[in-house]
Amino acid sequence: MNHKMFSQVFCTDNVNKNASGTVALASTLENAKMLSLLALIVPLIVSTSCDEVSSLNNRSFPTNFKFGAATASYQIEGGWNADGKGENLWDWYTHTFPDKIQNRDNGDVACNSYYKWKEDIQLLKDLGVNHYRLSLSWSRILPNGTVNNVNQKGINYYINILETLRANNIEPLVTLYHWDLPLVFHELGGWYNPLLADYFAEYARLCFKVFGKYVKTWITINEPQTTCVQGYGIGGKAPGYLHSGEGVYQCAFTNVLAHAKAYHVYDKEFRASQNGRVSIVLDSAWAEAASDKPEDVLAAETAMAFSMGLYANPIYNGNWPQIVIDRVGNRSLNEGFPASRLPQFTPEQIQLIKGTSDFFCLNTYATSYSQYQNTVNESIGTPDYHLDMGVRSYRDPSWSAVVDWVALVPWGFRSLLNYVWNQYDGVNEIVVTENGWADVESTLNDTARITYVSEYLSALLDAYYEDGVNVTGYTVWSLLDNFEWTNGYTQKLGIVQVDFNDPDRTRTPKESYGWYKGVIARRCLLESCVN
Ligand SMILES: *[C@@H]1O[C@H](CO)[C@@H](O)[C@H](O)[C@H]1NC(C)=O
Ligand SMILES: *[C@@H]1O[C@H](CO)[C@@H](O)[C@H](O)[C@H]1NC(C)=O
Ligand SMILES: *[C@@H]1O[C@H](CO)[C@@H](O)[C@H](O)[C@H]1NC(C)=O
Ligand SMILES: *[C@@H]1O[C@H](CO)[C@@H](O)[C@H](O)[C@H]1NC(C)=O
Ligand SMILES: *[C@@H]1O[C@H](CO)[C@@H](O)[C@H](O)[C@H]1NC(C)=O
Ligand SMILES: *[C@@H]1O[C@H](CO)[C@@H](O)[C@H](O)[C@H]1NC(C)=O
Repeated sequence: MNHKMFSQVFCTDNVNKNASGTVALASTLENAKMLSLLALIVPLIVSTSCDEVSSLNNRSFPTNFKFGAATASYQIEGGWNADGKGENLWDWYTHTFPDKIQNRDNGDVACNSYYKWKEDIQLLKDLGVNHYRLSLSWSRILPNGTVNNVNQKGINYYINILETLRANNIEPLVTLYHWDLPLVFHELGGWYNPLLADYFAEYARLCFKVFGKYVKTWITINEPQTTCVQGYGIGGKAPGYLHSGEGVYQCAFTNVLAHAKAYHVYDKEFRASQNGRVSIVLDSAWAEAASDKPEDVLAAETAMAFSMGLYANPIYNGNWPQIVIDRVGNRSLNEGFPASRLPQFTPEQIQLIKGTSDFFCLNTYATSYSQYQNTVNESIGTPDYHLDMGVRSYRDPSWSAVVDWVALVPWGFRSLLNYVWNQYDGVNEIVVTENGWADVESTLNDTARITYVSEYLSALLDAYYEDGVNVTGYTVWSLLDNFEWTNGYTQKLGIVQVDFNDPDRTRTPKESYGWYKGVIARRCLLESCVN
């Protein structure tokens, strides 16, 4: 159904908050039977003043639920050439193409966490989080990318962090790779090169060996979709390649293979002694059908298959989604290719990749509507990922948003949690490994961030208690304002402000930090909750 029609009805004095509260209600009513009920409810809400409409779930978070905060190596560390670190893709990209980054910024210093990590851990401790999601810089540990040259100082940096987290009773969620590819592998073709899967597995083996004593939760790769679409398909992120017809799929192929090989290394060589778990972080916006028309419903399914499905389907269900196989296959034949542009997995590879996840890690920030576009015979001769997909995506302009990849649509988050839960085989637990609000001012009074996170956490509780989706953790992105890739330092997502004009990179908690701390302490979004 079309949520759009409900989103502008209420509360002219506080449109954002209450519009989302209203659509949150609408999203719980996903079937036709409920639609008629909604027609009855709407007039009642209209007659209520906005202040009296609280859309927040009043249940306590489950006792085993874990709260956390996240960062990533290139976005916060700086120390880009300190103590033997090798050059990585983002060092090279920002230095070589400064004009591709807002204000010609780079991550050379970033939040200076290479030197200020103790302060970061103190902020986490004061916040009261259960876990901290951080990533390891591959080229800090292996300056040449390969295990023949290990940088002990890089290893020590992370050991110090992991020991201090342990001393403070904060569980590390460690991502092996968050986009900062050692430069040598970029020169060998980056994620287009399937051999990268073997190099990644060797790097993973080293990390399991040297850090495994401290780490019980491993994440192999962060958001391959964003890497493959933006880095290798349509530009916009390093390496900025425009190979939308083949590149996205080649990149997806290598990513899921790399993940699977690293998973099996852990499974065979470390699981018995370390007893940890391994997953991959997958990201997607929620794709909502623009209307009830079958072609729009199919368009939304297709959008999910081409975004999350390219990665989740091989890992959880086996092989690419059928809809992707069919669409890319048909267009490829029409275009005169001898075979599909979608690389084929061998039956052995399908088996190798399937089932390589111990729980589901989800990153999400936005929602869009999906409308059918007949691209079956359109622009043949222009191999293109979006033409393969054949979906027009758009946002409701009334949704609160400051940047183009984050929008306040809590009902979309709830739908996405339900989708992941129902769509993928063997998922018995979902951890939200990133979610948060972007602004451009880094104001300390960040009420819009509090609104966003509170409504998303409320939608999460709805999914848990009302829909039976086993979501066991939430990780806010980000602990700190940081280097937001090609957006430089112009987009701020931290619950702690960082002064990038100050050589000391002074950190100042925002109001959202204090608010989140209270939620964690009370385990409740309101002043008090129902158990
Ligand atoms: C909690 O929310 C439910 C559902 O909105 C409502 O029925 C109940 O009265 C609320 N309980 C309290 C104590 O606020
Ligand atoms: C690592 O890379 C650097 C820079 O390309 C090179 O000078 C050095 O010889 C390499 N070291 C090893 C052990 O491969
Ligand atoms: C084209 O799509 C149809 C389903 O729509 C599928 O049966 C067929 O196998 C596809 N062709 C190729 C070459 O993938
Ligand atoms: C695509 O073109 C073929 C050949 O002209 C035609 O048979 C088919 O119906 C077209 N499909 C669509 C969806 O337009
Ligand atoms: C939810 O996940 C937790 C942690 O893995 C597990 O202990 C629990 O049994 C799961 N609950 C359900 C209903 O699957
Ligand atoms: C923050 O902003 C809100 C709304 O704009 C306002 O009500 C509140 O007083 C402000 N708080 C501070 C500390 O400035």
